[in-house]
Amino acid sequence: MKKIKLGMIGGGIGAFIGDAHRRASRICNDFELVGGVFDVDYEKSKEFAKKEGIASERCYISVEAMVKGELARPEGERIEAVSIVTPNYLHFPFAKLLLENGFHVMCEKPMTMTVQEAEELERLVNTKKLTFALTHTYTGYPMVRQMREMIKSGILGTIQRIDAQYYQGWVNSIIHGADSRITGVWRFDPAQSGVSSCMGDIGVHAFNLIEYTTGLEIKQVLSDLNNIKEGFQLDLDGTVLLRFENPKLKGVIRSCQVATGEENNLTIAVYGSKASLKWGQENPNYLYLLSDTEPVKVLKPAHGYNSEFAEKSHTMPCGHPEGIYEAIANIYKGMAKSIRGEAFIPGEFPTVHDGVRGMKFIHAVVKSYKEGNVWISL
Ligand SMILES: NC(=O)c1ccc[n+]([C@@H]2O[C@H](COP(=O)([O-])OP(=O)(O)OC[C@H]3O[C@@H](n4cnc5c(N)ncnc54)[C@H](O)[C@@H]3O)[C@@H](O)[C@H]2O)c1
Repeated sequence: MKKIKLGMIGGGIGAFIGDAHRRASRICNDFELVGGVFDVDYEKSKEFAKKEGIASERCYISVEAMVKGELARPEGERIEAVSIVTPNYLHFPFAKLLLENGFHVMCEKPMTMTVQEAEELERLVNTKKLTFALTHTYTGYPMVRQMREMIKSGILGTIQRIDAQYYQGWVNSIIHGADSRITGVWRFDPAQSGVSSCMGDIGVHAFNLIEYTTGLEIKQVLSDLNNIKEGFQLDLDGTVLLRFENPKLKGVIRSCQVATGEENNLTIAVYGSKASLKWGQENPNYLYLLSDTEPVKVLKPAHGYNSEFAEKSHTMPCGHPEGIYEAIANIYKGMAKSIRGEAFIPGEFPTVHDGVRGMKFIHAVVKSYKEGNVWISL
């Protein structure tokens, strides 16, 4: 099948997540990277394009130039979808420009800087009838998808408690270490990162995972945040209490970027009246089913007992572990199906609506803390 022509903004030499996007788009085998604006510095962008084997005339000086240059090409040759893998403050203006000009978008999270921007993108996607996918990476794991399907089947009974946490420790070395610095890192600059560091960067993944796996909406939050160090403008740690539609269901999100020794410790546990499910991203191929009457069951990918959705999200036979690249590839696969007008399972890629929800969460959490730890509706 003809590959979808992909463009990329950001992701040049030394950038973090752009490389994972490129690998994922190749793993899913539906995309071909043909051009982009790979770096804020045009010379470095050209150096990257040369290394990657991308035609020099398709390495553009700006996103505006890319849109113009690609639209001037005959249909069938031009870029159809663009991955935005830049710092947060650029997601909205670039996504808006791309959608207005008919390009499908794969956007990194957090989707925008404000709730208003997120809602504007949602309106635009709906009007233009284009595909917009948001890289909430963890939704691409087979056992997260299995968890979603099992919860949907009602196997847990009534859900009574939800716990999600995302703990990292990498910020410690930056704020306390020998090269201690709180400037020069875009993630710590509110103008580039947004109103939150910890909740905006990783807490939002935990939020998304709760809504993704349970299908429930978080209605209200009450937060306590910690910036750890004098002069640090954004949160580096926080706890968020959660309320849902059902007043007898409670939950919590704990998120931290200074949890010494932690790497990417994202976990979710959903406790029901009959059974519970637990998953953690550092061992993503194990999904734990707990009950009070039977021994713990461990579900793994590529077994007939899984749902069709989980099975379609793992390509190797059982026992050959797949990981984060394949998870992102599954999101690209869902996006490709949507672009091609093929049938896909809801949940194959996070949507612009998930992005709106995420922005509502981040802003509600910050507001709750600033107003003295009060309940805020999303
Ligand atoms: N989904 C995930 O799990 C995940 C993981 C890491 C990062 N992210 C998100 O991905 C985004 C990028 O993060 P990162 O860690 O890769 O950042 P990074 O700093 O490593 O890379 C950013 C890239 O954007 C480029 N850039 C900056 N301004 C630009 C402009 N005007 N035009 C073109 N390119 C420009 C930079 O040159 C660089 O190549 C962030 O929004 C972050 O939140 C998501």
